[in-house]
Amino acid sequence: MQDNDRGNYTVPAITLYPYQWNWDSAFAALGFSTFDIKRAWVELNTLFLAQWANGMVPHIIFHQSASTYFPGPDIWFTNKIPQTSGISQPPVAASFARIIFEKDKEYGFGQLKKLFPKFMASHRWFFEHRNENGMIVVNHPWESGRDNAPEWDEAMGNIDISNVGEYVRNDLIYIDPHMRPQQQDYDRFMAIVYFARNCGWNEKEMADNGPFRVANPGVTFILLRANRDLLAIAKELGEDSSEIEEWIKSIEGGAKQLWNAKINAYDAINIRTGNFANSISAASFLCWYGGIENEKMLETFDRVTNAVKFSVPSHDPNSAKFEPLRYWRGPIWGVVNMMIGMGLSQMGHNKQAKKVHSDTVTLISKSGFTEYFDPIEGNPAGGKNFTWTAAIWLAWASPFATEFKELSY
Ligand code: GLC
Repeated sequence: MQDNDRGNYTVPAITLYPYQWNWDSAFAALGFSTFDIKRAWVELNTLFLAQWANGMVPHIIFHQSASTYFPGPDIWFTNKIPQTSGISQPPVAASFARIIFEKDKEYGFGQLKKLFPKFMASHRWFFEHRNENGMIVVNHPWESGRDNAPEWDEAMGNIDISNVGEYVRNDLIYIDPHMRPQQQDYDRFMAIVYFARNCGWNEKEMADNGPFRVANPGVTFILLRANRDLLAIAKELGEDSSEIEEWIKSIEGGAKQLWNAKINAYDAINIRTGNFANSISAASFLCWYGGIENEKMLETFDRVTNAVKFSVPSHDPNSAKFEPLRYWRGPIWGVVNMMIGMGLSQMGHNKQAKKVHSDTVTLISKSGFTEYFDPIEGNPAGGKNFTWTAAIWLAWASPFATEFKELSY
């Protein structure tokens, strides 16, 4: 983390991701809070300095130029200072701010007071622009933080890539292509970016006619959880909480619609077609983190985790689309494990919670702070020296993470 620290923000990894990423930064803040509480708040403050006037917190903030990443600042045309991308990422910031606050309330109070209206504006933006009847949607797979997950396949398959043209993917220079998204995924990622930039990042146009709009368990449960934490923050600060209470009710209703009885799991829905993705991903197991109990989901969790040596695979190992080394189509991600583990333990599923925790300890001990892990052999995969893997080690996985509080709802 210290190698990746740029003073007031942290890059996810030096060459592969040389800017500030939204949810990586929130995890970094949690990591910093285990040894430097002030630095933790600085990380969150820098992230929210880039918030747009409409409340959106961008997924990448290009503080300084770097040549090792595509698509860089010259591609997005968002016209912001600092330069940013034009989409968001899973809103974990309010949840982690609450945990950081609990560690030092005296220092944290003023920090939280400053950030509270910004968290409100960010969550309101999700309700205004990423909401379909209480289900939270993404307009780009990158917004989900799980770029090439199989749950986007149907919606991605309908995207016209005829205007994409030539470009150079720097990621393939640094990482084994078998561990990265495929070329057709990247062409479609870029087609969505070009559509959005051509309409000047107009939210209404993207919602009505954008090439991609998919409701999904990941962002829905994460925002639900973040609203519960924001409610607790509002009470602590003596702020009005009625709007947050409405949001919670609305997403609880939305989450029910994501239940796919056919696969016994929460699933994504393509808003353009109304079809379920029929995909069980690690994000399906975030229901407990969101504060939603579901016995059937627990059965699915046991089946999925018994199918591989290490947990939690990002995609169902019994699915034909499972690829143990390819990014979000099979590998284990430490940050997702932390959220699943927190949710399981808060809901009293101690056996499952312990397994997720002890597998994460084994994986990091064996394979280091790698970007993700192979669920079959436990080998390292993707980039090395990742900030967020180190952050969850410090804050949650390590035997020294004794301060970590499992906050109640
Ligand atoms: C990848 C991941 C995303 C993460 C980013 C930086 O794009 O899919 O979740 O935020 O890398 O680590």
